[in-house]
Amino acid sequence: MEAAAAATELAHPLSVLHAEVAACTRCALAKSRTQVVFGAGSPDADLMFVGEAPGFHEDKQGVPFVGAAGQLLGKLLAGIGLRREDVYIANVLKCRPPGNRDPLPEEIEACESHLFRQIELIRPKVVATLGNFATKLLSGKPLGITRVHGMEQEVVLGGSRVVLYPLFHPAAALYTPRMLDVLQGDFARLPELLGREVVPPAPALTLAPAPEPTPQVQLGLF
Ligand code: URA
Repeated sequence: MEAAAAATELAHPLSVLHAEVAACTRCALAKSRTQVVFGAGSPDADLMFVGEAPGFHEDKQGVPFVGAAGQLLGKLLAGIGLRREDVYIANVLKCRPPGNRDPLPEEIEACESHLFRQIELIRPKVVATLGNFATKLLSGKPLGITRVHGMEQEVVLGGSRVVLYPLFHPAAALYTPRMLDVLQGDFARLPELLGREVVPPAPALTLAPAPEPTPQVQLGLF
């Protein structure tokens, strides 16, 4: 076996995916980006954050949430006793939209399988969505973040049951003290959600014939 092939075989599946996504040309953002911003943090994280898209600094450094919003995210994490290295951080889009404009539907569609694959490989317990784009994509519902922030729900993502927990985007809270208070309050519930047992769904009903009831059961029932 060739050395390169052997190295790929030994690499963590998330690193293999990273290498694949780094060469992505599925949408026009491939032409304007400096580089793909895949994601950062622990591949074994119980808590995963999903933001919107890389901005100026993220595009230059290749790391998500390194600008002002990222500094705030770091402070919010420290407030609940976590560091960036304890969690995994990714975005809906892996490439910066020019001028930090909103992601376009076709860009989200082209990129979403990268995110679902990341979730599948990391298998977090809690996925905290930051802002409208991540929340709408992962909830599959059009409800905006103002309506649903702080309201957790169990969903299946990347083939596993996870707690989906929508939060305001830290960028929105940077200059709005009231929103920052709400974000801090919602963040404070993360340790409880991480400790929560996610109950697997009940087994599907089978059509096997029911066993004959015993005479006592029949007497008790009728
Ligand atoms: N905002 C995001 O949504 N993601 C980043 O990586 C940075 C800012």
